[in-house]
Amino acid sequence: MQNFDYCTPTRLIFGEGVVEKLPEVMKSYGHKILLTYGGGSIKKLGLYDKVKDLLSDFEIVELAGIQPNPKYDPSVLEGVKLCKENDVDVILSVGGGSVLDCSKAIAAGAKYDGDPWDLISYKVKAQAALPIVDIITLAATGSEYDCGGVISRTETNDKIGYVDPLLYPAVSFLDPTYTFTVSKKQTAAGCADAMNHIMEQYFCEDSTLLNDAFMEGALKSLMINAKKCLENPEDYKARAEMMLDCTYGCNGIYALGNSESGWPCHGMEHALSAYYDITHGEGLAIITPRWMKHILNEKTVDRFVKYGVNVFGIDASLDAFDIANKAIDETYKFFESINIPMHLKDVGIDESRIDEMAHHVAINEGLEEAWAPLTEKDIADIFKASL
Ligand code: NZQ
Ligand code: ZN
Repeated sequence: MQNFDYCTPTRLIFGEGVVEKLPEVMKSYGHKILLTYGGGSIKKLGLYDKVKDLLSDFEIVELAGIQPNPKYDPSVLEGVKLCKENDVDVILSVGGGSVLDCSKAIAAGAKYDGDPWDLISYKVKAQAALPIVDIITLAATGSEYDCGGVISRTETNDKIGYVDPLLYPAVSFLDPTYTFTVSKKQTAAGCADAMNHIMEQYFCEDSTLLNDAFMEGALKSLMINAKKCLENPEDYKARAEMMLDCTYGCNGIYALGNSESGWPCHGMEHALSAYYDITHGEGLAIITPRWMKHILNEKTVDRFVKYGVNVFGIDASLDAFDIANKAIDETYKFFESINIPMHLKDVGIDESRIDEMAHHVAINEGLEEAWAPLTEKDIADIFKASL
């Protein structure tokens, strides 16, 4: 078991109607708020009006139009400018993971005199960040309970996971009813994203019984609840369970004491989103079973056996490689059953830039250090098998 040093300072406020506590919470962080949001879903939900109403005593500056796979230019740069010009005290992010990730980069950039890309690209370590409060409206990334944000820079095809303990949200509001309007496509993609966060931690050299049980349970919960959410988008209990499964998924708490896995599927998917702007969870669902097949060997098979027996109930008396292959097939079939497009061609990606993307991943993601090391050729082969 590995040593660790763990602290999550984020306050979670969970349940229907908890947004009423927003004014009391915001008061502890100041008077001038940067309100960040995306393309309008919060207006359709009625949440925009609700927030403006609750915060009528505060001074609010707005940054709207933050896109999925949030962009450094214009969103991060505009947000930093607004914070500096208006002397903002606190950021309120209302929306999905993209809005929150963008808000995290803005929070650090607002307290830095130079180009915010210095921070995101790890050239300079941030010394401070504005506090962030969020109302999360999509169950997927777990950004509401972690200290990372993923930012895309279109001109260089970079999509970088910017991680710093300064970026933990101070407070996250989790009201499952806000996720009732999430489309089937985004519900399924959110499920795949959270499942992959768990798998990226599960498939490693050294785990514990407790961590394995946490993660196997979370994977089963995600599969059961995502299906219920797809069948009945207003099933409160299913939306609530899925929301918490996602919130915990990327925080690291499931893998305290585990050895590093290297997060290979995320490393590869970030290139797909950076080059083609696809939905993150769909890219992960496509890559994951192909990655599993590619790395299955004598060294890794035992982990797949445990996964297959405990998550999918595969007969433990079968041959180890049979169990592993069945587990990988079950993983694929589950994603297919929630209508995720399962080929890169289905999401507009052909073979033309595969070698270029594999090179980009090999240089930037350090996957030769992963639990199952991947060379540039391995990465290209996984992409090709995903076509
Ligand atoms: O822009 P709006 O109008 O708000 O619409 C959004 C967007 O079109 C919509 N949406 C959000 N809440 C809704 C809703 N539609 C109806 N009802 C609601 N309640 O859904 C669309 C997708 O939103 P987005 O925020 O992009 O989705 P998600 O939460 O999946 O975030 C994806 C981003 O997070 C990054 C991904 O790479 C991607 O850029 N990730 C962040 C992580 C983190 N911070 O820890 C970890 C993940 O691995 C991931 O990489
Ligand atoms: Zn993810």
